[in-house]
Amino acid sequence: MPYVVTDLCSGCRYTECVSVCPVECFHLDDQMTYIDPETCIDCGGCVPACPVGAIKPAHQLPPDKRMWIDINRRRAAETPVLTGRLPPLPGADERKRAIPGR
Ligand code: SF4
Ligand code: F3S
Repeated sequence: MPYVVTDLCSGCRYTECVSVCPVECFHLDDQMTYIDPETCIDCGGCVPACPVGAIKPAHQLPPDKRMWIDINRRRAAETPVLTGRLPPLPGADERKRAIPGR
């Protein structure tokens, strides 16, 4: 099962995930990133790299987050590959502080 970017990425987009990914499976739009499930090799390296805990293996997603499996697949097909780090989005650190436990 591939790994999946969830809603916690939206509005933050720290892109630290892309710096540890051994393949080019991260895509992006102006709000967040998406993992191409066809390219992901399930290494799990991106999970601890994300400052907001946005990435989960698909099989660990709770029911209310499972729609992100299809969203990642669809949006990865529609958006360009992210090839390197970018600055976080404005307000990312404030959003991170608002997440319980972060
Ligand atoms: Fe990339 Fe590995 Fe994360 Fe898949 S699990 S997106 S291959 S770092
Ligand atoms: Fe998003 Fe976390 Fe990567 S915020 S861009 S999944 S490091």
